[in-house]
Amino acid sequence: MLPDLDDDERRLIRALEVSGLAAEPRVWDDPSVGWDDVRLVVIRSTWDYAERRDAFLEWCAGVPRVLNSVPVIRWNTDKTYLRDLEAAGVPTVPTTWVGVDSHAGDFLLPEGHLVVKPVISSGSQHTARYDPSGQAAARIHVERLLTGGRAVMVQPYVTSVDADGETGMIYIDGAFSHAVRKGPLLQAPGVATDQLWALEDITPRSAAADERAVAEATLDALPWPREALLYARVDLVRGVDGAPLLLELELTEPSLFLGLERGAAARLAEAIAVRLGQG
Ligand SMILES: Nc1ncnc2c1ncn2[C@@H]1O[C@H](COP(=O)(O)OP(=O)(O)O)[C@@H](O)[C@H]1O
Ligand SMILES: [Mg+2]
Repeated sequence: MLPDLDDDERRLIRALEVSGLAAEPRVWDDPSVGWDDVRLVVIRSTWDYAERRDAFLEWCAGVPRVLNSVPVIRWNTDKTYLRDLEAAGVPTVPTTWVGVDSHAGDFLLPEGHLVVKPVISSGSQHTARYDPSGQAAARIHVERLLTGGRAVMVQPYVTSVDADGETGMIYIDGAFSHAVRKGPLLQAPGVATDQLWALEDITPRSAAADERAVAEATLDALPWPREALLYARVDLVRGVDGAPLLLELELTEPSLFLGLERGAAARLAEAIAVRLGQG
């Protein structure tokens, strides 16, 4: 566990206390921790599940009640959900999917600047960018992930990220709360981090109308009513024609940057209180 917790968690716990709710941080994979005594588990900074997703999902299913819900977490912890959203008409970053049953030489990589990432990943782990001269290195990266039993996704590197960053739009209880700008994370070609998270450059941003529209379309395309989600973060980048594209929909363990919006922690605490009231 982070010794002093993440800023989000410190703020949320304080806001819950103000709402009269006792909350404490617990570590999901700590075998000495019991769960039977809790009324509700809210998943937060579990950035270490990607290499043992099955164990994580089993843990989610075994606690008394978890938010977001187990079906949401199951769907969202595998980035192939992007295919579902694309099929539903949401503009997404074009993606080549390389399944674990692919073999060396079996798959074609797009040309140009590339990003390689595991289909099950968070915190930029094992995610790397390659320039056009790095095709061979990109292929080695893909093959190494496949050998490790991990399905892979390959995308064009969206160059607007370098100057404009990505826009993260945070929703609480299905309602828009605030937006942030996240600076580019993949700066050095070919360097894949194996840290649990990357140091991020986050600043407040007001979401443009076309970004809001894509975020709304994303939440409307889900297999669940958006109100079922305690929290959501929609991450968008602008493609070559300038239109926003979905990079990621975070329904599992997103940082919500509660400190960047007055009242956001209190609203999240209130949403949790209401759900507890619904028993
Ligand atoms: N296709 C892409 N083009 C440009 N940058 C990308 C691309 N895919 C990922 N990145 C960068 O890598 C980071 C992590 O990738 P992301 O898809 O958000 O997965 P996760 O946050 O779950 O690790 C992004 O925040 C972004 O900075
Ligand atoms: Mg991300």
